[in-house]
Amino acid sequence: MRAVYASSIDRDKPLTGLGIGDRPEPTVPDGWTTVTVRAASLNHHDLWSLRGVGLSPQRLPMILGCDASGLDTDGNEVVVHSVLTSDEWRGDETLDPSRSILSEKYQGTFAERVTVPRRNVLPKPGELTFEQAACLPTAWLSAYRMLFTRARVTPGMTILVQGASGGVATALTVLASAAGVRVWVTARSEEKRAQALALGAEQAFESGARLPERVDAVMETVGQATWAHSIRSLKPGGTLAVCGATSGDAPPAELSRVFFLQLSVIGSTMGTRDELERLLRFCVDKDVRPAIHAALPLEQAHQAFESLLQGEVLGKIVLIPSP
Ligand SMILES: NC(=O)c1ccc[n+]([C@@H]2O[C@H](COP(=O)([O-])OP(=O)(O)OC[C@H]3O[C@@H](n4cnc5c(N)ncnc54)[C@H](OP(=O)(O)O)[C@@H]3O)[C@@H](O)[C@H]2O)c1
Repeated sequence: MRAVYASSIDRDKPLTGLGIGDRPEPTVPDGWTTVTVRAASLNHHDLWSLRGVGLSPQRLPMILGCDASGLDTDGNEVVVHSVLTSDEWRGDETLDPSRSILSEKYQGTFAERVTVPRRNVLPKPGELTFEQAACLPTAWLSAYRMLFTRARVTPGMTILVQGASGGVATALTVLASAAGVRVWVTARSEEKRAQALALGAEQAFESGARLPERVDAVMETVGQATWAHSIRSLKPGGTLAVCGATSGDAPPAELSRVFFLQLSVIGSTMGTRDELERLLRFCVDKDVRPAIHAALPLEQAHQAFESLLQGEVLGKIVLIPSP
């Protein structure tokens, strides 16, 4: 079957190891099932994999991709939950110490077919297209958990979303504003700030700009480049939720501000199957949809990865395998 995979690791030039070609059909262990992929979306995670973060050379070649929507073996429309746990694990899947997400230990979704444990397959609401549904299981699920489970953001609060154009950041903006939260964003270009306003942000600022007032919570995916600004932007008692560090993970900790202002710094990773189910319902009920930058054939994956690498993407890029 046709697939997009990592054939080698290069920390500095990640696209060197990007392969597009034929890979063997997946084998289906007991308790697993096959999904015929109709759409899959790119995440920054796929670039990290090509850089060797979370993917060791011993596991190569590895089909990339964490997100998919498609058809189950009975022809039902489905969405794939990407968090895989050990068989014995019960409860919050994200807390299993041996959890992985697709394309780390098991072959990913940038292919005509993907195999997953049966419990990782959820019904796709008919209101969502395959392209829209394929954006939800990683970036949107992470945003949902960050906002509502981990940071406990509630209607009427003001939050700051750093680096507004990213997959997770656009999800944060859309989900929070749909939930009655006042959303402020930063972004590095005028075009990206304008897009964030169109997605529901109330105000958009240049990266690092002084805000009119301090906020209740900050959503961090950028890391080093914005960390100090995030800490400085919080009210006393405020919350910084972090799920990524795209620009680097060694910023000054700003410990004095953390303890003097009694700030909470909270990590968040992916989301549970239950949270994905709630996210799907939320999208339907509130009529919110992922911002899709482009939908491209699987064969044009190189172009898609190049755009993500250059930071040119506004929202999500979707890859479509040939029917
Ligand atoms: N823990 C988890 O479960 C989890 C889940 C999903 C994602 N993540 C992580 O979260 C991060 C974002 O993921 P994504 O898929 O949303 O990535 P993405 O779509 O590639 O977005 C990257 C964003 O980072 C910002 N950025 C990059 N470098 C920057 C810099 N030097 N200064 C300021 N902003 C910068 C950009 O902001 P501008 O708008 O200003 O250009 C861009 O919007 C990644 O590191 C990813 O691995 C973690």
